[in-house]
Amino acid sequence: MINLGVLVSGSGTNLQAIIDAIEAKKLPANINVVISNNPNAYAVQRAKIHNIPVEVIPNSSAATREAYDNIVVEVLKRYTVELVVLAGFMRVLTQSLINAFPMHIMNIHPALLPSFHGLHAQKNAVDYGVKFSGATVHFVDEGIDTGPIIIQAVVPVYDDDTEETLAKRILKEEHKIYPYAIQLFAEGRLEVKGRRVVVKDTAKTENTFLENPSSNQK
Ligand code: GAR
Repeated sequence: MINLGVLVSGSGTNLQAIIDAIEAKKLPANINVVISNNPNAYAVQRAKIHNIPVEVIPNSSAATREAYDNIVVEVLKRYTVELVVLAGFMRVLTQSLINAFPMHIMNIHPALLPSFHGLHAQKNAVDYGVKFSGATVHFVDEGIDTGPIIIQAVVPVYDDDTEETLAKRILKEEHKIYPYAIQLFAEGRLEVKGRRVVVKDTAKTENTFLENPSSNQK
């Protein structure tokens, strides 16, 4: 059983996927706290519905990004969090938070990193004309969406896709791979070797996340 702290800013569908996996006893974890920088995030309501402690820390709480992150670290430690899960948390972390949880912070990004890092990943993928995109779960380092990659899922990009239709297709995969990445961490099966994350005992894994698109898939 691992203690999670989930950081959110928005609708919280990834948070919901993690809650559902825990409640279905697929994920040996407990969400000790949900932290939101946005008081109006629907993710906050989701946490309350499931009786999970919520701490709202508005962006205005601190004068600098470092000072903000120091508050977050204090809250995470107070709730004895072991793994920090960024689930649509729209702030760039500073070294003070990253150093407090080295290789113990995960993020999910709606693209196949290192392509289309940063904001508007789905729109940028459509505009660029790639034929595949997807989702990436990675450990967080000091860069933006640059840390060692844990899991990726691939989705096709169709000719008539818009930012919205692609985002929806990617989100469906996010909800599968994020709880699974946390499960691998909780089971002690992730070994970070420089940039590479080795998943141990993969032969026991029944899930497969590479979805090979074909012309009749739609
Ligand atoms: C997700 O698509 C997530 O990948 C993205 O924000 C969305 C949050 O949705 N995160 C980023 O773009 C971070 N760079 P949710 O609030 O419904 O989980």
